[in-house]
Amino acid sequence: MPINVSPGMEIFLDSADVREIRHWMEEGIVDGVTTNPSIMLADGVYELERGATQIAEVVHPRPVSVEVTTNEREEMLCQGRALSKLADNIVVKIPIINQSGESCLRVVRILESEGIRVNVTACLSFGQAAMAAKVGARYVSLFAGRISDEGHDAASVIRVTAEWLSHWGYASRIIVGSIRQVYNIQDAALAGAHVITVPPQFLSKLLDHKYSRETVHGFVEDAKKALSRMSTVRA
Ligand code: E4P
Repeated sequence: MPINVSPGMEIFLDSADVREIRHWMEEGIVDGVTTNPSIMLADGVYELERGATQIAEVVHPRPVSVEVTTNEREEMLCQGRALSKLADNIVVKIPIINQSGESCLRVVRILESEGIRVNVTACLSFGQAAMAAKVGARYVSLFAGRISDEGHDAASVIRVTAEWLSHWGYASRIIVGSIRQVYNIQDAALAGAHVITVPPQFLSKLLDHKYSRETVHGFVEDAKKALSRMSTVRA
């Protein structure tokens, strides 16, 4: 089954917390989910396959990115194939390079050639994202927060990558992750991110505004007053 792609910019939830995922799904804002081993650990998901299957079921047919847990490239291939079999909306996350700096592009190329959708993760530069696109990655994940940690302008990396992909007609979609502040969402959106993956706590903050609360409070109070005046007039 093809994975859903919503028109316009997509919002994914960067979480393995099924309660949060269900909540935001009900609100209708979630186009997909991304996870990584650190998110799984933090959200108490210790059995990768079981957790991934559960999330995939909750968000189906929207995509769920699940990351391989090995540094060995041959093992990444095996894990990628196994993860993709868990559910038809699972996207396999493969790092752009492993912890020794060895290229994982071959793994991406092979999995994509087998019809397995890959999200190339831990991309911190235009060059890495461009190479991932060249080998056919469905998604390239640019880590905005970590790009800024290194003293670079995440928005300009996102912008040049989006422009380059579109100029040459590459099908890869940019997922901007590593969101650290609510404002990063606006920055990424205006820079041309196709997808922004947001931790649930920032989604709540994005929605809330104290003046909206006050405004609604004023309307509700005036509606009550109007109701009571109506009953007085009728009496
Ligand atoms: C999402 O796909 C990434 O794994 C995640 O956003 C990384 O975030 P971090 O840089 O805060 O670990």
